[in-house]
Amino acid sequence: MTDFRFELLAEDGPARRGRIFTAFGTIETPAFMPVGTAATVKAMTNEMVEATGAEIILGNTYHLMLRPGAERIGRLGGLHRFMGWQKPILTDSGGFQVMSLAERRKLTERGVVFSSHLDGSRHELTPERSVEIQHLLDATVTMVLDECIALPAPPREVARAMELSLRWAERSKRAFVRRAGYGLFGIVQGGTDPELRRRSAEGLVEIGFDGYAVGGLAVGEPQELMFATLEATCPLLPAGRPRYLMGVGKPADIVGAVARGIDMFDCVLPTRSGRTGQAFTRRGPVNLKNARHADDPRPLDETSDCPAARDYSRAYLHHLVRSGEILGAVLLTWNNLWYYQDLMRNLRTAIAAGRLAEFVARFEAEQAMGDL
Ligand code: GUN
Repeated sequence: MTDFRFELLAEDGPARRGRIFTAFGTIETPAFMPVGTAATVKAMTNEMVEATGAEIILGNTYHLMLRPGAERIGRLGGLHRFMGWQKPILTDSGGFQVMSLAERRKLTERGVVFSSHLDGSRHELTPERSVEIQHLLDATVTMVLDECIALPAPPREVARAMELSLRWAERSKRAFVRRAGYGLFGIVQGGTDPELRRRSAEGLVEIGFDGYAVGGLAVGEPQELMFATLEATCPLLPAGRPRYLMGVGKPADIVGAVARGIDMFDCVLPTRSGRTGQAFTRRGPVNLKNARHADDPRPLDETSDCPAARDYSRAYLHHLVRSGEILGAVLLTWNNLWYYQDLMRNLRTAIAAGRLAEFVARFEAEQAMGDL
């Protein structure tokens, strides 16, 4: 059985080209993980997700524990078998979703008690229960339970949440059942304060994890502050472990974070915006709702290998979106996930060739040109 491990294949400044080995196959990094919150990447079949080149998807402890229930998925053989996705799955721990979705939350040293946003039922998440749920889901990568607070926040609050997250990380590690090819990631917290980030990173490295996530970012702070925080945090993390920036982001955020040493990403942006008429292209985002597309026979991008970008006219996509047709959401989501995977492929190639700076310059110039 394969050990869970990360191989560093090439470096270009702080940027890394790597490979993660897992029980469910390998993941080329930098990697983007499509979000499959409720055991589905919304509007996609697994075949469509695979065709984009995605090698790992994300699932959510919070949603799946409420519906259909972790024990049920466990009885049905875990998340891979339940949803028919055989490649790696990373599950978030629920801490972040409890804070953003649940009602009547009560946070203590022990964990968090909350009411479901679905039916008001009471539930508890502790570090131990979160890890147990992720075990029942058979997650390839388990995330520790953490507390992610909204920014800006008073420095004492940021420090308190970071220290609590550190104690929860230690409990998560103790609860984790180690199996070959499965990994447990810690989550660095500490807002945008470099000193708090340092204490968090050093504390997590001392506990020891298979990978390290940077959490608590993309919560309303400007991009420069996120980049500065990454510059303060990445050098403190072990070179031989993957680094995951949670919940990020726009294409330009991903490019900037890769240049600063991040290896993995997840974000709802490509899937969510695909359901609201926005298409990502190498010339920037395009809003298909706009009337200017109504008579346009050209595809979104004829140079793309994605059927959604290549084989359908903008006029047709505009019509589907305007009519609220399901196929509009399907095609735009497919286009967007394909665009994100193309971006990751291009980043990997550029880093391996030692040409990331050139790639970044071209990426920025193309995005600035505006739609074709
Ligand atoms: N998703 C986005 N940010 C975070 C975070 O800080 N913690 C967790 N668990 N998930 C996230």
